This record gives sequence, structure tokens and C-alpha cells, in this order.
Amino acid sequence: MTPTGQPVRVAVLASGGGTNLQALLDTLAASPIARVTRVISNRANAGALNRARRAGVATTVLRDPADAAELQAALGDAQLVVLAGYMKLIPAAVVSRFHGRMINIHPALLPDFGGPGMYGQHVHAAVLASGARESGATVHLVDEAFDRGAIIAQERVRIETGDTPESLAARVLEAEHRLLPRVVLQLAKELS
Ligand code: GRF
Repeated sequence: MTPTGQPVRVAVLASGGGTNLQALLDTLAASPIARVTRVISNRANAGALNRARRAGVATTVLRDPADAAELQAALGDAQLVVLAGYMKLIPAAVVSRFHGRMINIHPALLPDFGGPGMYGQHVHAAVLASGARESGATVHLVDEAFDRGAIIAQERVRIETGDTPESLAARVLEAEHRLLPRVVLQLAKELS
């Protein structure tokens, strides 16, 4: 809660199906600590937007994700910003406005297997090709580069014999759904 007794207002940016958004919507629906108040996408047909609408949360589709003023306006009075499968870089002015209050979830154990081109199945294929014994999910602060900001929390996932990029992605996604709401609640408490 903020000093006014209201839950911390969380904006979620998502480009895809939005299962991480759904985990946040479900966990925070009745929370006194934090609430998803806006969902923003760069894609008009992102599944995440439908999840938001079903939950009665305001949505915005960005015309130009590189336009800092447009994104600032869409974020409105948000106090915490979560990138949950958002595929665009955040303009520097927005990163600096939300310094320490903007996080991203990545489906691998950063600092390995992150950066440009490391998204979706590319990440899991690279992890398997490396011979690593484990992967996982990482939540980190957002800065001006992809997947580079300070790491806040990770959940590890064991790699099983016979794993494919798809099977590993599915297990990492389950870890993401546990990790992201936990970190959002933790940060919201710190902001309160
Ligand atoms: C997740 O694996 C997330 O880590 C990555 O993109 C995927 C988004 O999945 N950045 P969803 O849209 O939340 O289902």
C-alpha cells in the first residue's frame, strides 16, 4: 500500500500472449499491496490485451514504441512498470523516469543467454546447445540495453535428459509465473 492506503499501481507492457500478465492479474486481483492498473502493448492483436480487458484493466496500443512521450502518457500515474514479454526497447527518458521501478522478466539465468536476438525459443535452444545443466527465470531492473540491468531475483530450473526448446520453455514459464508476482509484491512493499 502507498501512504494513501491504496495498492501500488502497476503498469504491464507485453507484446505476446500474456501468461505472465495473467499470473500478475490473478495474484494481485485482491491484493492490498499492488494492483495491475494498465496494460500497454506495441501489438494491437497481442493476447495480453484480451487478458487485460477480461480483467477490466485499461489498455493502450502504442503507435510508436520508440516515442518516449507517447509511452510516458500511456504509463500515466503508474508507480511500478513490469515488462512481461515486451519486445521493444524502452526509450531512455522513460527508463530514467522509472529508475529502480521498472523490471523485466527473462526466460534464462542472466547474465548468460540474454541480449539482442535472445528471445523466445532462441533462448532455450542456445541454453540446450551450450550443454548447461540448468536454466531458469530472471527478473532484473530495466536499463537502456536488452537484458542488462541489475538482477533482482532468479528461479532455477533443472535441464532434463531429452529436453527440447519447447519442453524447457514450458518449465521455465512455470517458474516465471511464480517468480514475477513474488518480485512485484516485494518491490511494491518497498515502495509503500
Ligand atoms: C516469457 O518467456 C518472458 O520471459 C519472455 O517472453 C515470454 C512471454 O510470455 N520475455 P507471456 O507473453 O507472458 O506468455
